Amino acid sequence: MVLGRFEELPPYAFPRLRALLDGTPPGADPINMSIGEPQHPIPQLVLDVLRAEEQGYGKYPPMGGTPDLLDAITSWLAARYGLADDLLDPARHVVPLNGTREGLFNACLSVTPYRKNRLQPAVLIPNPFYQCYAGAAVTAGAEPVFLPAPQENNFLPDFDTLPVDLLNRTACVFLCSPANPQGTVADVDYWTRLLSLAEKHNFVVLADECYAEIYTDTPPPGALSAAGAIGSVSNLLVFHSLSKRSNLPGLRSGFAAGDPELIAAFKHFRNYGGAASPLPVQAAAAAAWREESHVEENRRLYREKFDLAQNILGNRFGFYRPAGGFYLWLDVGDGEAAAAKLWRQAGVRVLPGRYLGRDDPELGAAGNPGHAFIRVALVNDVASTATALERMSQCL
Ligand SMILES: Cc1ncc(COP(=O)(O)O)c(C=O)c1O
Repeated sequence: MVLGRFEELPPYAFPRLRALLDGTPPGADPINMSIGEPQHPIPQLVLDVLRAEEQGYGKYPPMGGTPDLLDAITSWLAARYGLADDLLDPARHVVPLNGTREGLFNACLSVTPYRKNRLQPAVLIPNPFYQCYAGAAVTAGAEPVFLPAPQENNFLPDFDTLPVDLLNRTACVFLCSPANPQGTVADVDYWTRLLSLAEKHNFVVLADECYAEIYTDTPPPGALSAAGAIGSVSNLLVFHSLSKRSNLPGLRSGFAAGDPELIAAFKHFRNYGGAASPLPVQAAAAAAWREESHVEENRRLYREKFDLAQNILGNRFGFYRPAGGFYLWLDVGDGEAAAAKLWRQAGVRVLPGRYLGRDDPELGAAGNPGHAFIRVALVNDVASTATALERMSQCL
């Protein structure tokens, strides 16, 4: 049998975790902190709109989005990032997505040519990373190039020192901020330098900002903060989602916004192979983007859980409070061994950092920047989070 190009990819993180843990009974009532699926309540308003708009399931939805949703998104972006009113036009600069995972994946296909400057294109990916990026690069026929994002560099890749021949064949760059898994935020200066590199070497920046609304005090700047200051969204697509912001991972709703030429090409691509978001979902998403109090409540709950983690874990395991997102990224020496032990002895399910990074071709797991870490998702209610953190503290 001829196998597809996906054979090049290692198994996805969660099947690997099941293979690691599922033969072993949990040491206590299981608490799952391995997956970034928010467990806080769904906003009632969204459920009301879905119900009120249910006749919309009888129609094919517009791929480019309803004017109402495009307007809600554009207004939200302008307010959130302090953008000039004329920077984003709802009709030209935005496209709704069925969650950002498919959007990030398909955007990479949409912007990657067969050849760039007559060479196989490269897709630049920070290491560790959200696994969808590598799948997209391989599917696009590009070479995924993994850039170390080490703690010494604030968990961000160093684009300034990359060789010119690599930059010249780069089709696109994925950058997640706040980053999954480390919670690092790229500042405006970092985005500005990346955008100027993108212009110089003619590549696209795919800014994955689905954790942008989960932070302790200060709203993280985004790629659009830099683009707004420059006054141009050229070479840029940003991705936002309701999954984390509004506790709606099952609604499958997000959007891409940015360079109108890229958005037009992406819509063209989506007309062939995309799935438009159902009309009731688009109506509910518009209502969610216009409402902030549920997001504030969400942040309050995450703040409370990070306070707990700080009290319980103190300065052990390299604990730090991330600038954004809802993960702890803990240095436990050997993440796989720690995840297995936490499950076996304490019933706490966490993800070994190695599964989010790439092994080094020569050094193997030891050269994987996630090897020493576990990722702990603070997505459960406050009481179960406290129990899990106490158990972790004792077990490790
Ligand atoms: C970094 C990152 N990007 C994108 C996504 C996709 O989110 P969704 O497809 O629910 O919008 C996730 C989900 O966990 C994520 O962690």
